[in-house]
Amino acid sequence: MSRYWSPFVKDLVPYVPGEQPKLSELTKLNTNENPYGPSPKVLEVIKAEATDALRLYPDPNSDVLRHAIADYHEVSIEQVFVGNGSDEVLAHIFHGLFQHNKPLLFPDISYSFYPVYCGLYQIPFETIPLDESFQIRIEEYRGINGGIIFPNPNAPTGCFLALSEIERLLTVNNETVVVIDEAYVDFGGESAISLVDRYPNLLVTQTLSKSRSLAGLRVGFAVGHPELIEALVRIKNSFNSYPLDRLAQLGAAASFADQDYFEQTCNAVIAERNTLMTRLAALDFQVLPSAANFVFCRHRNRDASELAASLREDGIIVRYFSMSRIDQYLRITVGRPEDSEVLFASLQRILAAT
Ligand SMILES: Cc1ncc(COP(=O)(O)O)c(C=O)c1O
Repeated sequence: MSRYWSPFVKDLVPYVPGEQPKLSELTKLNTNENPYGPSPKVLEVIKAEATDALRLYPDPNSDVLRHAIADYHEVSIEQVFVGNGSDEVLAHIFHGLFQHNKPLLFPDISYSFYPVYCGLYQIPFETIPLDESFQIRIEEYRGINGGIIFPNPNAPTGCFLALSEIERLLTVNNETVVVIDEAYVDFGGESAISLVDRYPNLLVTQTLSKSRSLAGLRVGFAVGHPELIEALVRIKNSFNSYPLDRLAQLGAAASFADQDYFEQTCNAVIAERNTLMTRLAALDFQVLPSAANFVFCRHRNRDASELAASLREDGIIVRYFSMSRIDQYLRITVGRPEDSEVLFASLQRILAAT
């Protein structure tokens, strides 16, 4: 802390990202990255764009990319906003679309960046408990609010809420913006983008970090009514007009053109997730149903933080949250089959030791 800091910065509680270790030989199952690389077509486009043209600013509106997303999701380009990772898109939503005089509602167990943005933008919030099986109870979201947000599938649970439930919420909550954060939807969920034409207060966010294996490129987007998008553009152009560089815009657009690769890699992750869940259950873990590229599980009689520490000693990192209700759970990213082999060899050794 320095005497030059503003009082505001002194009180900020920032987000703590999952560890990005410098050692490459670790089995990294802690930040839900895709174990398969991006489409080779994306890499080709990025390499071709790495030219003298980098001296020029990129398109501030990312039109090529927004067109690609609009075509893919069958919406108009005016319904699409893009940002530097969906985290940036979410930040602008918190800033520009949630009311700052009434509490924002989100689940008690959810993406841990939401309370951080509330702190940054001075938004009051209320957390709504998931039920005892960690499912979202939509009827609890009916109170006065300045907006509603939750991930679907939820993180870190992986549980998916049916679109009919989201629609049930939208029919009663039409005074404030409802945001569905679909960072993991491509691994088995169903997107609420199909509802945006009917609900002008619905905004859906997605990322290219997970299912399109582009976490390092930093691209996310929102789809919703053009008036919601216009608010985000106003915020963007008051903050950073060029959030996406030339490589990111073209590389991201190219990923929407390689549907075969996208499907193949998503299917490989889904197949491995199902194997992982069965094998964890056989080792006495309780595993929540998952529609994401990670599983959330607890061992019936071993302490989760000790398990995470023992795995770490074997060079395997998983995510552990020291938080009420979930401090006995581990979140394990789905890797390649060979990553699972390393994980299970270690788990078997740890569980066999008394
Ligand atoms: C639920 C959820 N939303 C949004 C994000 C942000 O993703 P990105 O900023 O990489 O697009 C994450 C990242 O892990 C996430 O888990």
